[in-house]
Order: sequence, then C-alpha cells, then structure tokens
Amino acid sequence: MQRREFIALSVWASALLLSGCGSNSNGNDTKTSSPQTENTSPLPIPQLLKGKLENGVRHFDLTIQKSKHSFFRDTKTDTFAINGTYLGPTLLLNNDDEISINYTNNLDEITTMHGHGMHVPAIMDGGPHQKIKPTMSWSARYKVNQKACTNWYHPHLMGKTAEHVYMGLAGFIIIEDEESKQLDLPKRYGIDDIPLVLQDRRFDANAQIDYSPTMREIMHGYHGDTYIANGAIDPFIELEAKEIRFRILNGSNSSVYEVGFDDERSFFQIASDNSFLASPVELTKLRLSPGERAEIVIDLSMDKDKSIFLKDFKNNKTFLKLMVTKDSTIKTSLPQNLTTLTKFDQPANIKNRTFTLSGMRGVLTINGVSMAMDVINERVPIDQTEIWEVKNLMNIEHNFHIHATHFMILERNGLESNVAKNEKGYKDTVYLAPNETVKLLVRMVDYRDKDNPYMYHCHFLEHEDAGMMGQFVVE
Ligand code: C2O
Ligand code: CU
Ligand code: CU
Repeated sequence: MQRREFIALSVWASALLLSGCGSNSNGNDTKTSSPQTENTSPLPIPQLLKGKLENGVRHFDLTIQKSKHSFFRDTKTDTFAINGTYLGPTLLLNNDDEISINYTNNLDEITTMHGHGMHVPAIMDGGPHQKIKPTMSWSARYKVNQKACTNWYHPHLMGKTAEHVYMGLAGFIIIEDEESKQLDLPKRYGIDDIPLVLQDRRFDANAQIDYSPTMREIMHGYHGDTYIANGAIDPFIELEAKEIRFRILNGSNSSVYEVGFDDERSFFQIASDNSFLASPVELTKLRLSPGERAEIVIDLSMDKDKSIFLKDFKNNKTFLKLMVTKDSTIKTSLPQNLTTLTKFDQPANIKNRTFTLSGMRGVLTINGVSMAMDVINERVPIDQTEIWEVKNLMNIEHNFHIHATHFMILERNGLESNVAKNEKGYKDTVYLAPNETVKLLVRMVDYRDKDNPYMYHCHFLEHEDAGMMGQFVVE
C-alpha cells in the first residue's frame, strides 16, 4: 500500500475508532492512530539515569505508579508507569558496577520488577517470588557481571505480567563495558543512539487502554490495532545525516514484528539480546518476538532532507518517521569486528533437557505442566554445559526465555544452517515458529542457590500468564 493511502485509511479508521464504532478484530487492517497525532509528536526519549554513587554503590530510585499519559492530543489515558507517565527511565550501567535499584510500589496492587537479561542472583531477579506490596519497596542489589548489551526491566507477577506490562511498566537497562566504549559506534544517547520500544495497544472509545483478552486471544495473541514507539503514536524523530544506532526492544505482549524501513534499504544488526554480534549482519528485515532486543545501525549520511519510515512489514504498519534534518556533527564508521563470542564447551556426555510447549483452551504448559509457584521443575548443576531442546508442539508461534544466563542457538529443526547469522550472538529469548524445535547451548556459570528459583517461559505474555512457565534452581 502506498504511504498516502495508508494515512488516509488510518485517519478514516481512527475516526471510527474514536467514535466508538471501531471493531477490535485483530486482522491486518490499518486502523491505527488518531488523526491529531499523525506524525506530529516527537519520539519521547526516556530519561537516562546513571544513578547516585554512594560508598561505591550506584543507586537508582524508581517509583512504580499510576499515571496519565497523552497518547492522544485531547485526552488523557490512565496508565502505569515508572517515575513518569508511561514506561520508565533508561538505566545506564557499566560492567563491574555495584548497583542498587530501589523500586517503590505506589500502585494499589502487588507487582514485581524483573531485570530481563540481567545475570544476577536468583533473589535479585525480580521474578514472581520477589513481590513488592503496595507502598513497599524492594531493592535489586548486585554487581553487574556481563558483556555490553541492551536489557530491560518489567513486572513479573504470577498471572499479572501481561496486564502490568500492557498498562505501561517497562524500561531499558543499557550495559556498557570496556569493549563497547572503545568501538566507533554512535553513542550519543537520544541523538544518534536511540532506545526504541515497539508495542501495540488497543484503546477503547474513551481512549483508555483496553486489556481484555478472550480465550482465543490468550492462545493466538492479544494484538493491538495501534502501534506505539516509546509510548507515542506515529511519532517522528529529527536526526543527523550520519550513522544512527537504534536499540530496539519488542516490548509488546504477543506480537512478532518484521522491522525494516519503508524504502527497504538495508541496515546492520550489531547486537542481539545479550551481546554484540561478532560482526555486523546486513539485513533488510529483522524479526523480533516479544522480549527480544536488537541493536541496529542505519546509515543516513546520504539522506539529508529526506524522511524514512521504520515499519513492521508483517502488518504493513509504521512505528516511526525518521526525518533527516541536520548535518552530521560527528562521524562514526561501523567497525567490522565488534566482539569475540565464546561458546560454552560441549563435553561428550553433555546433558540434554527437553522442554515441550503445548496447551489448549487457555491453559498452556511446558512438559505437560503449567507453572506452579511451589514446584521446582528443573535442578541445573552449576558450571556444566547442557543442551536444552525446546519443542513447539503447537500450530501457533511461541518463544522461549531463560533467566540467569545467556545461551547460544545451536540448531533450528535439526539443522545448524537454519540458524540465521543475526541469531548467533548471546541470546536470552528465542523465537519458535509453529511446530519448530530449537537446540540451545546453556550453562549456569554463577549464583548457586538451591532454594530460590529462576524462571524459563514463553515471553508471549498471555502464554506466560496462562501457565507456559517453569522454575529451575542452580545447584
Ligand atoms: Cu522478560 Cu521472565 O522475563
Ligand atoms: Cu527475564
Ligand atoms: Cu507462547
């Protein structure tokens, strides 16, 4: 579809939506934002927090609160947020930092706050067991202990994760290390190094967030008709004519995106969930499932005075308008070698574990059982490499996320050659097409604790909340 038709149709459809006649069928129709917001609001850039240094510890203070956010020009939408009105600030950490993130819960209900991708002790993980009651605080305190990457934080309360994230609770964690600081990459936050959370939402006739999945939507995904980027509908960003880095997070509940640019130009992926890739990988489309991150670099040096749209090819909808309005003030040139990745060594007698994903009628399982708070499903020995084989036995998409450590993808459907180049970095979340099987190389390298579990689960949040999650301890 031409861009002009797309706008016309979406304006028309939005009028319907705002007048309350919009249907919520989750098809590929282009019903989207309100006419008042069509590329008129700048992309919000979350505040960057470096923490307050006290006695060698970097302190972050975050307040989880009810708020009101302006998705639409003339209406306020009730949200949950961290510090602000939607989403939360970006935490900037350095490897080896001692940090303490203090979360205060000012909601009327219990929540938790998990550091997705963070390599931390189980009691600092912020999973379903580290509950924060209303008016109470909880601190995640640990030493940062991993390579440079883009992680994120979000709630993880049993049965409530999907709703809490949908209401707006999520934020970026950026980790830098000696290596990332040396690389000639765009690193001016908000200028040429842009955090970008992609989400889809449903709004009701009063412009309020509508989270009401049916059983069918729990199974097939709760898809929204309005695309938002950093909490804004159809925003724009003014950029310099140079290389621009986006740290992209699929922060949606259950939508898988094929991210790219409307002119189908190529760009380079430089990082996956937990590390840089060894070298940049050239792509025109990037598949991202919920919870996955990718850092990309796009070269805009020849695009002065042009506009380009970042879009989802899967549903043919745009997230963001890039307006190249400024001359470059600094040059960067993409390095060919980004990092060295080490593969856990595989002993001849390597242990295999199998995780089967299945379910029906709104109840989802791993290895035939749904998540139970008091059941430890797996006991994993420390410092031993294992192969985790994850089998999607269903006709719908899933993904699989493991807390505590990163993994590498060895095979898709039995073949190493099915693993895409851009999936060869350190990962913590892997996509599974219907009926697909993946083999992961996994190793728990730290934090033995036979009592406090970590989680593994599908990161389609409706699936997670419907039971597709399990617990493991590191012994
Ligand atoms: Cu993003 Cu178990 O989480
Ligand atoms: Cu996680
Ligand atoms: Cu799933």
